[in-house]
Amino acid sequence: MLAIGTSNPMNCVRQNEYADWYFRVTKRDHLGKWKDKMKRICEKSGIRKRYLHHTEKMIHGHPELLDPTLPSLRTRLGITEDAVPELAAAAATKAIAQWGRPAGDITHLIVNSANSVAGSPGADLRVAALLGLQPSVQRTMLCLHGCSGGCLALRLAKDLAENNIGARVLVVCVEVFVLCFRGPDATRLDELVAMTLFGDGAGAAIVGTGPVNAVERPIFHMVSASQATLPGTENVVELKISENGVDFEMSSVLPKLVRENIKQCLVNTLAPVGLASDDLNGLFWAAHPGGRAILDSYETALGLEPGKLAASRRVLSEYGNMFGATIFFVLDEMRRRHRSCNEEREKGEWGVMLGLGPGISVEMMVLHAVGTGVED
Ligand code: CAA
Repeated sequence: MLAIGTSNPMNCVRQNEYADWYFRVTKRDHLGKWKDKMKRICEKSGIRKRYLHHTEKMIHGHPELLDPTLPSLRTRLGITEDAVPELAAAAATKAIAQWGRPAGDITHLIVNSANSVAGSPGADLRVAALLGLQPSVQRTMLCLHGCSGGCLALRLAKDLAENNIGARVLVVCVEVFVLCFRGPDATRLDELVAMTLFGDGAGAAIVGTGPVNAVERPIFHMVSASQATLPGTENVVELKISENGVDFEMSSVLPKLVRENIKQCLVNTLAPVGLASDDLNGLFWAAHPGGRAILDSYETALGLEPGKLAASRRVLSEYGNMFGATIFFVLDEMRRRHRSCNEEREKGEWGVMLGLGPGISVEMMVLHAVGTGVED
């Protein structure tokens, strides 16, 4: 991994004000019981602030976003049509600047976004145009992989880079939550949790083999990637397209499922590269922060010392869960931490990148910290 870039929309929402904002904007201020519940969830979320593309004005301009009897998919896609490629391009521009080579040297582009679900060509074409990539760039568009989308896209980028000599793969994940935003529904408490959890953002990375000396400064060596599926869990997290946008369902059993299964998944991933799973505190951890309870479950199941998930907790606190884009923020935070603490000690450290998605799919990658990239 040769460079990392991130971006967010301008609109910042503080978590301690969110329940009041949400019930006012959705015109459900009279549902005091649900508002109090949301306040309790916000307090326990481990989130301080998030960035959201949608605003009060935007929601009031589109009553169909709050009325489940009216179709709103087109409205939602229309709202995100420009925002998604622009946010993606902003993150990619930072990654390209950090990389140090011209955008025209990018050979492959992978874009992951639920916001391109309804049409082709998708956001990948717009991103390529905004960045001035070559017409020969080989594009791949991914959709609806939820929170594992970033790890999954990086896994594909690793394969492309290793199987095409000289390839430079730009990976971009971008999600804008207005596709899922809706008013409170007493029959869907998981949606209330989702409204408090998700934020908008884009993350990008450039992946390639054989770094060009003096120009490219590798950050992580992507050593080995794997995916595991937890049998019988296909209904635990679901993303479904409907006339009302993307319906997001998540069961409250997820943290428990993680506690029960994650250790074995990691044993299977670490063993082939010769890493022992009895010293997991000897590794660094770049875990996608699905939610505070998910990070707690990783800590408990893996016996991690407090502080091992500090980068993930900080990203959760400052941005919320931005689906697949989040992992790039965690990797970037990790890179900064490696630089600011003892670089000599941290360089050469082994670690794991981890993310969960619908399936339940567990995406894992063994990383080797080889440097901290160029100065910010
Ligand atoms: N559905 C409905 N209600 C839920 C819920 C869920 N999934 N999870 C928690 N709640 C409710 C509880 O019932 C409780 O309600 P009351 O206050 O009325 O009792 C309330 O939320 C607070 O719960 P707790 O008191 O038990 O507090 P907590 O310590 O569990 O914190 C939380 C609440 C912050 C939501 C925490 O449970 C959490 O972080 N959950 C994980 C969220 C999650 O699943 N994230 C993953 C998203 S999916 C993903 O990452 C993959 C993808 O592809 C998108």
